[in-house]
Amino acid sequence: MKKIQLIAGKSHPELAEEIAKILKIPLTPVESRYFADGEIYIRIKEKVRGNDVYLIQSMCAPANDRLMETLIMIDALRRSSAGRINLICPYLCYSRQDRKAASREAITAKLVANLITKAGVDRLVTVDLHADQIQGFYDIPVDHFVGYPLFAKYLKDKKMLGNTVIVSPDIGGVKKADKMADMLGLKLAIIDKVRKVHDKAEVTHVVGEVEGKRAVIIDDVVSTGGSICIAAEILKKMGAKEVIACVTHGVLSGNPKELFDNSAVDQILLTNSIPIPEEKISKKMKIISLGPLLAKIIKRISRERSLGELFTWEDKSQAL
Ligand code: R5P
Repeated sequence: MKKIQLIAGKSHPELAEEIAKILKIPLTPVESRYFADGEIYIRIKEKVRGNDVYLIQSMCAPANDRLMETLIMIDALRRSSAGRINLICPYLCYSRQDRKAASREAITAKLVANLITKAGVDRLVTVDLHADQIQGFYDIPVDHFVGYPLFAKYLKDKKMLGNTVIVSPDIGGVKKADKMADMLGLKLAIIDKVRKVHDKAEVTHVVGEVEGKRAVIIDDVVSTGGSICIAAEILKKMGAKEVIACVTHGVLSGNPKELFDNSAVDQILLTNSIPIPEEKISKKMKIISLGPLLAKIIKRISRERSLGELFTWEDKSQAL
């Protein structure tokens, strides 16, 4: 078996440390600093020759710096003869533009895929891509995990599955919400969301039965918080007695804490794919760590074992 080395970018030291602790493997030290003009300097401070390297880096804000830092780290690893370079990237930036929606636009998700692949990554592990088809932009293996089994497990453990309906906050999210509903044996409702103005969601109506029920919204991203709060409001208007939002990536642009605190949403479950600073944490939030799942993924990849079992909520394999 090749030696495993874990290396962390600057984006999420807590998550990298948690994974390192679970795997009982120290993080390989990296010298990382800025030149006076803002350029990034990277040097891997230990040998990586021939080893199975896992670079843990979430490409959250500031996305441009995180992306460039990742590319430079990959380049440094490749030029240091790392055996296999695995990018563990829970949140992949620039994924929103996965097609040309209007003439003369860029397809940034493809551009980022080209950059990462060209830099020398052998495998990408990521969570809840904005669109599943982004996997196909990469000509290397992509292990695309989803957040909903973690939320499903939390709700089950807290005995919050009775009289519950799973809600897709928009038409685009129906497939994922349907999978979660299916996994839990629950019914599905769909919110018909429209965006007349950029970055501002409006809701027209809800398809499905929510009256008297606990409505669990499942979404990939919360940014301004507008979509969730509007959805919670309409669900309550339609008679839902409780609204829980389950969102994988807490982008939390600006600071929607106050908006959440005063909204109709009762609880917001997030993963830590993106670090959430103290000042943005609303009293309604509960953050579920991806650390244990990512540690298992790393261990299994290094042993060439299947990852399929990890896609379910009933984690039969407690062992790494
Ligand atoms: C939209 O397609 C996404 O799934 C999210 O609903 C959206 O990005 C959330 O944005 P905001 O929190 O700004 O409404």
